[in-house]
Amino acid sequence: MTHPVEISFTAMNVAGLAERSGRIAILVSGAGRLPTGLPRPTREALMRAFASDAWKAVKPGKALELAFPAGLKADALQIVLLPKDADVPAARAAGASIGAKLGKDETLVLADNHPGAAEVALGLALRAYEFTAYKSKKSGDGAEGEDGATGTARGRVTFMHKDPEVLARASADGAALAEGVFFTRDLVNEPANVLTTSDFADRLLAMRELGLEVEVLDEDELERLGMRALLAVGQGSESPSKVVVMRWNGGGEEPPLALVGKGVVFDTGGISIKPAGGMEEMTMDMGGAGVVAGVMRVLALRRARANVVGLVGLVENMPDGRAQRPGDIVRSMKGDTIEVINTDAEGRLVLADVLWYAQERFQPAAIVDLATLTGAVIIALGHENAGLFSNDDAFAAALLVAARAEGEGLWRLPLGDAYDKQIDSRLADIKNTGGRPAGSITAAQFLNRFVRKETPWAHLDIAGVALPPSGTALAPKGASGWGVMTLDRLVRDRFEKQG
Ligand code: BES
Ligand code: MN
Ligand code: ZN
Repeated sequence: MTHPVEISFTAMNVAGLAERSGRIAILVSGAGRLPTGLPRPTREALMRAFASDAWKAVKPGKALELAFPAGLKADALQIVLLPKDADVPAARAAGASIGAKLGKDETLVLADNHPGAAEVALGLALRAYEFTAYKSKKSGDGAEGEDGATGTARGRVTFMHKDPEVLARASADGAALAEGVFFTRDLVNEPANVLTTSDFADRLLAMRELGLEVEVLDEDELERLGMRALLAVGQGSESPSKVVVMRWNGGGEEPPLALVGKGVVFDTGGISIKPAGGMEEMTMDMGGAGVVAGVMRVLALRRARANVVGLVGLVENMPDGRAQRPGDIVRSMKGDTIEVINTDAEGRLVLADVLWYAQERFQPAAIVDLATLTGAVIIALGHENAGLFSNDDAFAAALLVAARAEGEGLWRLPLGDAYDKQIDSRLADIKNTGGRPAGSITAAQFLNRFVRKETPWAHLDIAGVALPPSGTALAPKGASGWGVMTLDRLVRDRFEKQG
């Protein structure tokens, strides 16, 4: 997998600064706020920069770059603006300004006594992500890493800070978070000929070494459990359908939070086949499962004091002689029958069974499901916000607070019984599409049928945010890892024992 750039922390010491090669970034809380002891020409260059119009246009979290700065051997001096009272997203954006520009030589970050330095380090790591597994020629030296992974040769990153030990400790959880986000991004970026259902399950099984309990349910087992809705989606594929259960038990006897993810490793639409244009993007249709996996990784790495169970339904939606047809009627594990109007509305069939299984087996305290479920949510919210649907106002509010704190866009959309008439079936208990109006809501109403009323439940439709069309504040173009940080925050805020 792609590992975050290594960051080390040392004591603030600008003696010898003039002789350092590579890049230097300096965190400043405002014009003229400079660490003492900078080489005189450098200080003068900085003061000129502070007086410029270019600097006045720099927003918190952004940077101004001086190339080949006077008095320094370094190739560049990046002046990064971050007020001392800046919020977490701004501090991470400041780090991203640095992380977007790492070279193959060392980058030194002069953080002085800045209180936001740990968040800067996290933002730097997140933005420096690169998925290079399939690039034969690397932009740097192309050094091969221990696990055979080739990546751009990147220089080390060193933070200089007044309190390096405190900073290193504060950054440890951020390093766990970055690893989890990278795990999710890698999964979403992988092509479907590599990330088959079996390969996905193997990557999850490998997380046993982090102390997670991981179990893989195969097709025979799913058949025994009655998961006909999920199995019907995968029956046209050569890759076997699987449900993977990951458990982190750090919270004693508490009932767990359940995270449920849609893991369609490729969505052709099935017999209701999608048009060719853009179909290659459906490698990301396992994005919900990818986020669940990334969160479980974070919880294990930071040894969270909470009980969380992650369940993912891994299937491939292919057209074939054995594939399900429009008009088929299947019985879900819950017992409700479903008329399959459109085989491209497959995610809800997968989730119906995994949601029901999660409740039957674990009696969770709450459930969050994540899915690249509908194109309609992109029409509603674009790529800036995921859609939130919930049967519980307090739980929805907690998710919105967590998402805001982490700088991930999330917007609540309504549920309501009135939408159910769109998914009433003439022949079965329910049908799997509700027509064009409110497509994301009728999808959520469908899921709602498979959630017990007493269980606080939230559904996150991440179709627009999992693989945005351009880079974001903290990610280069490609998979964003949206949701890993929000859910980790939710666990901290609502499910973790303190102390
Ligand atoms: N995986 C798609 C949704 C999707 C669309 C994700 C675009 C990411 C980007 C989902 O399985 C799907 O095909 N949904 C259909 C539902 C329809 C047939 C009711 C859709 O949104 O068109
Ligand atoms: Mn589909
Ligand atoms: Zn899909």
